[in-house]
Amino acid sequence: MSEVTNKSSIVQVSVLVFHYTMDSPEAEYYEKFGEISGILMYKDFLEYWDDVETFPARPDDLVIATYPKSGTTWVSEIVYMIYTEGDVEKCKKDAIFNRVPYLECRKDEMLNGVRQLKEMNSPRIVKTHLPPELLPVSFWEKNCKMIYLCRNAKDVAVSYYYFFLMVTAYPDPGSFTDFVEKFMEGQVPYGSWYDHVKSWWEKRKNPQLLFIFYEDMKEDIRKEVIKLINFLDRKPSEKLVDKIINHTSFQEMKNNPSTNYTLLPEEVMNHKVSPFMRKGIAGDWKNHFTVSLNERFDVHYEQQMKESTLKFRTVI
Ligand SMILES: *[C@@H]1O[C@H](CO)[C@@H](O)[C@H](O)[C@H]1NC(C)=O
Ligand SMILES: *[C@@H]1O[C@H](CO)[C@@H](O)[C@H](O)[C@H]1NC(C)=O
Repeated sequence: MSEVTNKSSIVQVSVLVFHYTMDSPEAEYYEKFGEISGILMYKDFLEYWDDVETFPARPDDLVIATYPKSGTTWVSEIVYMIYTEGDVEKCKKDAIFNRVPYLECRKDEMLNGVRQLKEMNSPRIVKTHLPPELLPVSFWEKNCKMIYLCRNAKDVAVSYYYFFLMVTAYPDPGSFTDFVEKFMEGQVPYGSWYDHVKSWWEKRKNPQLLFIFYEDMKEDIRKEVIKLINFLDRKPSEKLVDKIINHTSFQEMKNNPSTNYTLLPEEVMNHKVSPFMRKGIAGDWKNHFTVSLNERFDVHYEQQMKESTLKFRTVI
């Protein structure tokens, strides 16, 4: 193929993009998003990105990093329980999004993760969905501890789909199949799941990083809680572990207003469409993927992940 043909096909692709009429579902979908380093991101966040990039970390910060819909709130509550030595009352005092601020979250002056964190006493727990390349460099310079929790791609796609439906400001995800196509292409906020998990996996040898799996937590929560306690240099007493397991069970978290996101203003999330704490299981993708979608997904998955030693379980 000649270079000229190559170039003209690239031009054709961009022309196609601009051919969407203003009110087409595609145009509406992309209206909410911009890009940072080639990664799709909420426009509202990008408007103040300097604040994120220049964020000053403190050496005793703990970063909880995840791709969206991978168990972020679950592991955050576990870590908060560890920090408070199992003090359930302290955990219930405020909503999780105030106790563990979401670093890059921004909506003008209303929502501002950076400000929340700056005003917070140490030790801080920082939630982020950023890939390692976009994490403020000060976290690396200060050698902060980090936990990366990941979950198999199929269950993430299902959970992300319901999240799109229930978050009022998000665009219509279309049918589940349409959405999974976007997910595979990385055309969702935070970009490609495949790149996200692979980039963090590359960091796993850093002793300051603990890399854990949602499916392992579902299978043996005691083991993973003890792992977390040890990583945070606390003592995994049986009493503390029992308390944590009870308080952070799916049922407890679903009925706990400080973790089930019902303390957010009603216009942000519509829990009647789908609750924030939806099912909390591994393998729900089987109820959503058709045979043909699953086959297509598996082929694409294999291409994306074949170079990586990172292996997931889609059932337990
Ligand atoms: C947690 O403990 C409380 C009090 O002991 C109990 O009533 C509740 O059923 C437990 N929850 C779970 C999910 O184990
Ligand atoms: C959130 O917790 C409150 C308080 O327990 C409960 O009434 C409500 O049903 C829960 N909401 C959801 C959507 O899980």
